[in-house]
Amino acid sequence: MDNIYDIINNRSSCRSFSDREVSDECLEKILNAACKSPSAGGFQAYSIIKIKNSKTKKKLAELCRNQMFIEKAPVCLLFCIDYRRIKKICDVLPAPCEAINNFMDFWMAVLSTAICAHTACLAAEAENLKSVYVGNIINTVDKVSELLNIPKYVCPSVMVVLGYPKSIPAMSEKYNRTVLVHDEKYKDIEIDSLINEYENKYENWNMKPTKKLVDNIYDTCLRYDGIEMAEKFRSNALNFNKISAYQFWFGYYYLKQDDFLDLSGYVNYMKKQGFKWLE
Ligand SMILES: Cc1cc2nc3c(=O)[nH]c(=O)nc-3n(C[C@H](O)[C@H](O)[C@H](O)COP(=O)(O)O)c2cc1C
Repeated sequence: MDNIYDIINNRSSCRSFSDREVSDECLEKILNAACKSPSAGGFQAYSIIKIKNSKTKKKLAELCRNQMFIEKAPVCLLFCIDYRRIKKICDVLPAPCEAINNFMDFWMAVLSTAICAHTACLAAEAENLKSVYVGNIINTVDKVSELLNIPKYVCPSVMVVLGYPKSIPAMSEKYNRTVLVHDEKYKDIEIDSLINEYENKYENWNMKPTKKLVDNIYDTCLRYDGIEMAEKFRSNALNFNKISAYQFWFGYYYLKQDDFLDLSGYVNYMKKQGFKWLE
């Protein structure tokens, strides 16, 4: 595939890969493309760790909330924010290196790293590979760093898992462009239209309100928003005989547990890595 629009429009996340290996030549093309990405200041404050070793992939799968498809994928690319090279050069030249201490450079590094990762994803599509991001890598950074010898001034940011797909994964539903694009100025969408767009997007989402789901989401509502929201949720779920996407994701999956949402572990890890970004 080589038309850029075909590549973008046919991209979909893949979580099931065939045994076919990804050749070194192919991987090289993808990584060369990724390293051509734009970056804030042109600093290229990122590194990519290429992982093919089965034992390492198994460990990574376990460290990413047991997403075991990671183990089965031929290649993992770990994208890290990396100010190590910059810091080392600044120490010797010498030049001030305030970049490791301020929020702006943190933000710029995250953006640059993500752009690099997505360039790799699109290049992979051009090679008839499929990929998926794994964001959960940041929940266990200490262990990931130990596993991959990640030194000071480097922080894992996101992982991309790729390979040849077992079958072409279904395209996920997306919001209509008109929901996302504003003409000249921001225009808020009326709540009825918004709900309509949401219902359209998740038209095929079909999750039944089992007791376990309802009880758990009820508890989350209670904890985050109070009894009124909890009761409103329960009667909505039972009336419509359905758990909606946001009820599931925000009420059941993404929870303030084990340091999952506030990422205090990641903030502490960054300090240990030499960054004062968020202080
Ligand atoms: C930053 C980021 C983190 C993600 N983390 C995960 C993950 O940990 N596990 C997973 O299966 N998918 C993950 N995804 C993939 C999304 O679930 C997927 O992109 C989304 O459902 C839309 O589907 P599509 O990519 O097929 O369009 C992540 C995507 C992004 C952009």
